[in-house]
Amino acid sequence: MSARIVVLGSLNMDFVVRVGHLPAPGETILGRDFQMIPGGKGANQACAVGRLGGKASSAHMIGRVGYDVFADHLKASLAAAGVDVSGVHATKSQPTGVALIWVDDAAQNSIVVAPGANHEMHPADVEAFRPTFRGASHVLFQLETPLGTVERALKVAREEGAATILDPAPAHPLSRELLAQVDILTPNESEACILLGRKTVRVGREEAAAIARDLAQLGPRTVVVKLGDAGCLWWDGNNEIYAEPSRVNAVDTTAAGDTFNAALAVALSEGREPAGALRFANAAAAISVTRAGAQASIPTRAEVDAFLA
Ligand code: RIB
Repeated sequence: MSARIVVLGSLNMDFVVRVGHLPAPGETILGRDFQMIPGGKGANQACAVGRLGGKASSAHMIGRVGYDVFADHLKASLAAAGVDVSGVHATKSQPTGVALIWVDDAAQNSIVVAPGANHEMHPADVEAFRPTFRGASHVLFQLETPLGTVERALKVAREEGAATILDPAPAHPLSRELLAQVDILTPNESEACILLGRKTVRVGREEAAAIARDLAQLGPRTVVVKLGDAGCLWWDGNNEIYAEPSRVNAVDTTAAGDTFNAALAVALSEGREPAGALRFANAAAAISVTRAGAQASIPTRAEVDAFLA
C-alpha cells in the first residue's frame, strides 16, 4: 500500500535575480538574469514528495492562493510533480504569496516573502483538513502560514495518527505547547539558536549534538539539526546519528532544506532506518543545490538513486 504524505504550508511565486554580491542596506546594485520560479516552502516540500516518492507514496498539498495567474502556475507545477492539489483553495482577500530572492555567486541567498494568501489559512479552517490527514504516514509543516494554524493542525494530524515533521523556517520562537506536538523538528543552525533563545552561531557536529538535546527538552520527539554543507545530526532521545554531507558544487541553496525534509519523510514512510533516511535526504538536498531555483532544482527519485549508487 502506498504511503500518504501531506504538506500543509505556503505556495509562493519566486522572483529570482542572480547578483554578484547580496546588496547591503542602502546599496543599489545591477543584477543579472531574472526568473519567475514556483516556490514557497510548503509547495517545495510537496513537489519534492511528489518527485521523490513516485508510486510508493501519494503527495497532498493543503494551502491558500489568490485569484491570479501565479496561482495557476503554482498549482500546475505541483500537479506536474504528481501532487494532489485539491486542498489548495483560492481566497479573494489576498493575492498569491510571492518571494523576492537574490542569489549571489557564492550560492548564498537573501529572501523576502510577502505571504499574501498564505496567511489566509486560519485555525478555524483546520478541522476541515482532518480527512486529508487521516491515514497519512507523515504531515509536513513550516512557518510561512499562521502559527495558530500550524499549532492546531499539528494536533489534528497527530490525532489522526500521522507523524508530524516541522521545519521551523522562517525562524521564529515557538511555544512548548506547539513543540510538544512535533515528532521530528528539523532546524538549521540559526533556527535552532533562535528556538533556544541564543545568539546565532555556526555550529559544528559536537555543538549540534548539544543543541539537539537542548531542543528535545522543549518537546519534540526527535530533532534533526541541518548543518548545510557539514551534513546533519539526528537525536531521538536514545540514538545520536551523524550523516556526512554529500560533496557537490553549489550554485543555489534555495529549497535545499525543503528538499531535505520531503526526502526524509519519503524515506521514513518507506520504512528506512534513520541513518539510511538521512543519507537519502542529504543526497536529494545536495543535488538540489547544484541547480538554480526552488522547484526547478528538486531532483527525481531516479536521480537520487543514481547519485547514491
Ligand atoms: O525555502 C525556499 C523558499 O522560501 C522559496 O521558494 C521562497 O518562496 C521562500 O518561501
